[in-house]
Amino acid sequence: MREAEKTYFITTYGCQMNEHDSERLAGLLEAEGYARASKPADASVVLFNTCCIRENADNKLYGNLGHMKAIKDVRPDMKLVVGGCLAQKDKSAIQKRAPWVDVVLGTHNLASLPRLLEESKVSPAFEILEQTEVFPSALPSRRNSPWHAWVSISIGCNNSCTFCIVPAVRGREVSRRLGDIVSEVEQLVDDGVVEVTLLGQNVNSYGRDLDGTPMFAKLLRALDRVDGLERVRFTSPHPKDFRSDTIAAMADCEVVCEHIHLPVQAGSDMVLKRMKRAYTRGKYLEKVALVRKAIPDVSISTDIIVGFPGETESEFAETLTLMEEARYDSAYTFQYSSRPMTEAAEMDGHLPKKVVQERFERLIRLQDDISLERNLRHVGTTQEVIVEGASKRDSTRLSGRTRHNKLVHFPSDGAGDGSFRTVLITSAHSHYLEGELVDGRSESPRVRQRVSLPLLSAAAAHDGARC
Ligand code: 5AD
Ligand code: SF4
Repeated sequence: MREAEKTYFITTYGCQMNEHDSERLAGLLEAEGYARASKPADASVVLFNTCCIRENADNKLYGNLGHMKAIKDVRPDMKLVVGGCLAQKDKSAIQKRAPWVDVVLGTHNLASLPRLLEESKVSPAFEILEQTEVFPSALPSRRNSPWHAWVSISIGCNNSCTFCIVPAVRGREVSRRLGDIVSEVEQLVDDGVVEVTLLGQNVNSYGRDLDGTPMFAKLLRALDRVDGLERVRFTSPHPKDFRSDTIAAMADCEVVCEHIHLPVQAGSDMVLKRMKRAYTRGKYLEKVALVRKAIPDVSISTDIIVGFPGETESEFAETLTLMEEARYDSAYTFQYSSRPMTEAAEMDGHLPKKVVQERFERLIRLQDDISLERNLRHVGTTQEVIVEGASKRDSTRLSGRTRHNKLVHFPSDGAGDGSFRTVLITSAHSHYLEGELVDGRSESPRVRQRVSLPLLSAAAAHDGARC
């Protein structure tokens, strides 16, 4: 292939860990002289970084692979690559259902991409490993955002939630050394990054495999000392491991945003037990109360699954009452999806789609009302916002996020992505806030002399997907 023809396009499904991995895959390709293409049809390498957490992700992938076959029939030199969790789970199924795919690689061998592409010139190259060879953070990265970065602190998960396929595809938990994480963040700040999101399946158990004791609080405190870093977010802590030392570190460290994502999954103790979540509704709500006491204005989001096998109407009603008690700022709500290699898949009592859909709609209606109420508390306050780009609906407005992780739309003053702006919140809706620009310093203690960063490239916008 001539140098000029080396272009790539990556489609990423699923969670932030996949976003992170895609940036590494892009980094590997760019190190080999590939340039990013603007659409799949123009690319010489088209890569799907897949997710298998819910069934619809499978369906989407095979739909897209079918579409790519038509393009590949016309351009047989195009290389089609499938990576990520679904590839890890389904290597032989991909071979069978989409034999036109050139390369399959799993979650443990991202680094093999250039070699597998080379091998695929002779015959299709499929490689799935059971253990990580090279921690993905050690690979080159091509970030989507100049001002935000995903930072992986651990990979894998040692829990056994009965609905979840992640432990089967991502393996046992392995933590990175604290010093390596801090060095990576320092380097990112030198490159212009102001916000990092720490990633792990269970960030609270970070470090247990290194020192025999969780070190997440220590990590937050170390990052608070990184000069020039303005915001730290993290996802996700498991409620059973969310402890007072982390809450204290969140409260003490100015760099840690006033937001926590604390996935509850269900409000009934019986369902939580069948899910093997290892906490009760009461214990969970105690942690919510503790975090609210330590950080009074904190925003809290969660994940909830509706229609777990055997869920009765009264068990579901307990999820609704839990939502009312916890008063989440937002919730990611999912319909239960049966996954291979999980205990729940073998349980009795799988519910009809119609029942699940009806419960799901009730859940969303309730959460929308609570989200609106939670958002109204910001009206009349001024908030520090990092600009994420032009508003999708109205190019005369900008969109950005507050430290509480609220999306805000406000009139544009031409600020580039990654700029800090101070915004007076004038109205609230369930899913966003609206405001007006205010001159002067932001309320945030972190934004010292610097209200605005140098303008950064709008083309390299942060797409900000948070699950
Ligand atoms: N069905 C539906 N939702 C699921 N999740 C994980 N596994 C499943 C499943 N089998 C949801 C959980 C988790 C989020 C990332 O995805 O709520 O917290
Ligand atoms: Fe899945 Fe539970 Fe591990 Fe989260 S903690 S990745 S839900 S097994």
